[in-house]
Amino acid sequence: MPDKFKLTYRARRTRSTRSLRRLVREVHLVPDDFVAPLFIRGDTISESISSMPGIRRYTTSEVADKAREIFRLGIPAVLLFGVPRSKDTVGSGASRADGVVQQGVKNIKKKIPELTIMSDVCLCSYTDHGHCGIISDGKVDNDRTLQSLSKIAISHAEAGVDIIAPSAMMDGQVGALREALDDAGFRDTGIMGYSAKISSALYDPFREAASSSPRFGDRNGYQMDLSNAMEAMREIRLDIKEGADIVMIKPALFYLDLIAKAKSLFDRPIAAFSVGGEYSMIKTMSSQGLLEERKMMFELLYAIKRAGADIIITYFAEEVARILSKEKTHRG
Ligand code: PBG
Ligand code: ZN
Repeated sequence: MPDKFKLTYRARRTRSTRSLRRLVREVHLVPDDFVAPLFIRGDTISESISSMPGIRRYTTSEVADKAREIFRLGIPAVLLFGVPRSKDTVGSGASRADGVVQQGVKNIKKKIPELTIMSDVCLCSYTDHGHCGIISDGKVDNDRTLQSLSKIAISHAEAGVDIIAPSAMMDGQVGALREALDDAGFRDTGIMGYSAKISSALYDPFREAASSSPRFGDRNGYQMDLSNAMEAMREIRLDIKEGADIVMIKPALFYLDLIAKAKSLFDRPIAAFSVGGEYSMIKTMSSQGLLEERKMMFELLYAIKRAGADIIITYFAEEVARILSKEKTHRG
């Protein structure tokens, strides 16, 4: 063979066996990476969710058993969503001391005090119109909504939530909640901002799960436009300024560029929310035999981690942690 074919570098030398590939892998998935979202319903039996195969709405007591299972798999945190039995125009059920989330939190804390509890703070599951805020003159009233969100946050903190996660995309929501929590004596309760939350079609399976679809209009007036990366960074910067301890980008899969950018710009933990649509795409395609679920799940989660996410919120959390805890590492 002529000399010019004497390659000094042959990439395949570190690819040819499974153990070599494991050795040179740049990112690893561990149960510590994940937050498991959990739905809590205001009824006496748990039920499945048609839009999200394998995910359930738990009762306020069964959610504690589920949370324990999750914690035993090595997952450090859960993110709670309430699906109340009844709704009204101002979403008053969201801040009740005996509300679904508040009761669920107390039950989880009793059983597994070490588990970190995060809670979604929004109004859309609690309002009869399905918007994330209080409506005045046919529009979502930002500043009135901040007052409601503050009340919800305090009621969650009183129940024992460790990290409040406001998702309504109201301007100033992190600052308002920080102040309200501090004034109520909850200085150590953290805030994870849904900082760059895109108005996305990938939320539809979740809205079915949380029965939170808007009855009129859409969320484009308060959630972010999907084309704006600079604006996403501005939203994150503002949330940090207002006191966010963790900032989030949501969805994850179509917004990996935002995760990478945020990781290079900010010194706060970056969470990525791989939403219901990302989960259900894989679940339904694999159930039709069109792709392999396990491979797709790992490809999705590696991509999010590689992009720079420090925390991955995913409906696959339990499934992936089960594999990782059994096999010690993903063997690829
Ligand atoms: C509530 C909320 C939503 C999600 C988290 N909190 C839906 C929405 O904004 O319509 C989405 C979660 C998911 O899609 O998995 N504001
Ligand atoms: Zn909402």
